[in-house]
Amino acid sequence: MMMSDTPTRNHKLIAWVNEAVKLCKPDAVHWCTGSQEENDKLCKLLVENGTFIKLNEKKRPNSYLCRSDPGDVARVEDRTFICSSHRDDAGPTNNWVDPAEMKDKLKKMFAGCMRGRVMYVIPFSMGPLGSNIARIGVEITDSLYVVVNMRIMTRIGEGVLKVLGDEGNFIPCMHSVGMPLPSGGQDVTWPCNLDNRYIVHFPEEREIWSYGSGYGGNALLGKKCLALRIASVMAKDEGWLAEHMLILGLESPEGEKTYIAAAFPSACGKTNLAMIIPPEGFNGWKVWTVGDDIAWIKPGEDGKLHAINPEAGYFGVAPGTSDKTNPMAMRSVERNAIFTNVALTDDGDVWWEDMTEVLPDHLIDWKGQDWTPGCGRKAAHPNARFTAPAHQCPCIDPAWEDPKGVPIDAFIYGGRLSTTFPLVIEAFDWDNGVYMAATMGSEATAAADGQAAVRRDPMAMLPFCGYNMGDYWAHWLSLGKNLKVQPKMFRVNWFRKDKDGHYIWPGFGENMRVLKWVLDRVHGRIDAIESPYGYLPKFDDICWKGLEGRDQESFAQIITVNNNEILQEAQAQAELFDTFKNRLPKGIVFQRDQLIKRLSN
Ligand code: OXD
Ligand code: MN
Repeated sequence: MMMSDTPTRNHKLIAWVNEAVKLCKPDAVHWCTGSQEENDKLCKLLVENGTFIKLNEKKRPNSYLCRSDPGDVARVEDRTFICSSHRDDAGPTNNWVDPAEMKDKLKKMFAGCMRGRVMYVIPFSMGPLGSNIARIGVEITDSLYVVVNMRIMTRIGEGVLKVLGDEGNFIPCMHSVGMPLPSGGQDVTWPCNLDNRYIVHFPEEREIWSYGSGYGGNALLGKKCLALRIASVMAKDEGWLAEHMLILGLESPEGEKTYIAAAFPSACGKTNLAMIIPPEGFNGWKVWTVGDDIAWIKPGEDGKLHAINPEAGYFGVAPGTSDKTNPMAMRSVERNAIFTNVALTDDGDVWWEDMTEVLPDHLIDWKGQDWTPGCGRKAAHPNARFTAPAHQCPCIDPAWEDPKGVPIDAFIYGGRLSTTFPLVIEAFDWDNGVYMAATMGSEATAAADGQAAVRRDPMAMLPFCGYNMGDYWAHWLSLGKNLKVQPKMFRVNWFRKDKDGHYIWPGFGENMRVLKWVLDRVHGRIDAIESPYGYLPKFDDICWKGLEGRDQESFAQIITVNNNEILQEAQAQAELFDTFKNRLPKGIVFQRDQLIKRLSN
C-alpha cells in the first residue's frame, strides 16, 4: 500500500487514519492539501474516469457536470441513524440502533471496502479557519467526487491541519461508497451500494460513519451530518444552537442593517430567500447573504445571539433557479461550479427545468439520454444540485467570515401550507415563538381523502436534530431565558392557496414586503393586531407599492386567521406531542394549552 507523507503529527489523527487503513484496505492513501494544483489533478482524473464532463470553458469556466447513479439522488432519511446509548436520547423522530451493535455492523461493512481504491483524507473546518467557533472534522473517503465538493463546501487541507496542531481535537467522519474494486475490475462512473446505505451518527462519541451513497447530503459529511446532527448535540451540551437556517442581512436606504435567520424545511426556496432581490417599491434597499442553509448561533458578550455560516459553499437545488427567481445564485454558479444531475446542452453548458423560458431544442438529460421538448421526461432530476463557492455570490455579506458572527434580531419559521396559516404572524414572546416553531409543518402530498397531509417538521430540524426533539425544544426554552436580548420570532407562509388551488402570494422577491414588516416590528416602529395566535400585520403596514392593482382582497385574507381553523390545528398537534411522552417540555405544553384557551373563549 502506498502512503503519501503524513502531513501532521496529531497523534489522534494519525492513529485514526492508521486504523481506517487497516480496516478499509485501500490501495493508497492521499492526504488532501486543498491546493488548486491538487484540485486540477483530481478533476482531470474524474474526467478520465467518466464521472465528470468538463463544461464549455468559454461558457462555464472551470466547471463540471456529474451524473449520479439514478438511484443515488437524495438524502436517505430511512437509512439515517442516531446511535446514542439510550434510545430515548435519540427520541421518537430518529432511527435508533444500539451503538455497539451498529459499530459492529459498520466495521464488518467497512472491512476491505476500499480495496482497489484510494483513501482520501480531508481535514476540513466548519467555520472560518482558526475562529474559536469553528469546528474541525476529518473526512476519510474513497470518493473523488466527495473530495472536490468538500473543497467548495468547506475549508479543507493544510491550513486546517495547522490549526489542528499536534494535540487538537477533530470529529472523525468515515465515508465509503461501499464498492470495492476487484483487481483489474472495471469501475463505474458513480460507485455506490444502493442496497446497503447507512448514514450513522454517534452523538456521544461525536463520530460519523456513512456507507453506500455518494450523494451530497449523505456523503459530504461536514454539512447535514456534522454541522447539524452532531453540532446540535454539541450545541445543547455547550449552550448554543446549530440550526437549519439561512442568515440574511437587510440594509435600508438609510443604512440601518438588520440580520435575521430563517428556517424552512428542505425544498421551500431557502436559497432564494437568502439571496432575495427587493421588488419594485424598495429602491435603495440592499440584501446581504451570510448563509443559505445552516447557522451556528451563540450568545455573545453583548447578551445578543450571534450567527455564523459554518459552510463555505452552496449546495443548492438547481431546477427552478433562474435569472428571474434567483439571479444571485445564477451569478454564483457561473464558474468554478460542479453540477450534479442537470442536463447538458449541445454547446457544453448546463440546463435545468425553468432555467429559461424558451426550452432548448435538444439536450442530453441527467441520465445521459437524448432529450427534446415534449419528450415527456424531465431534463434534470428534480433534486439536481449545484455546488459553488459562497464568495462568488455577488451579495455575499462583507461580514460572512467574521468569527464573531452577525447579531440576529429575528427568527423566521416557515412551512409549505396551503390553508390556515397567515402570510406572517409574530409570536407574543420567545416561549410562544419556540412553540410556533416546534409545531410547524409542511404539506407533503395530498392524501387520498383530498385533505393535504401535514408532515410536522419542528424548526425544519426533523431530519437533522441529533438528539431527542423534546430535549431540543427544552434547550431552546432555556437558552432564551438567559439572553439579555431575545430576538423576535415570526412564522411565515408563502404558500397559501385560493379555493381554485392557485397560490395567492406571488412569493420570491415579493417576500421582501414581509421581511420589511418584520424589521418594522423588530425596531418598534409599528404596532400590530393582537389575535389569539399572535400579532398580525395591519394591512396598511405592509408596503404594497408595486403590487397595486393586484388582488388586494386575497392579500387582506392571507394576513388574517380563522380562529376555528387554528383551533383545529392546535388540537391536531396532540399527535405530535404525545410521541414525546416525558421528554415534552412543560413550557411547550403550557403554550398550547393557553392557545386553546384563548381560542375557546
Ligand atoms: C436539504 C439540503 O435537504 O439543504 O435540506 O440539501
Ligand atoms: Mn437544507
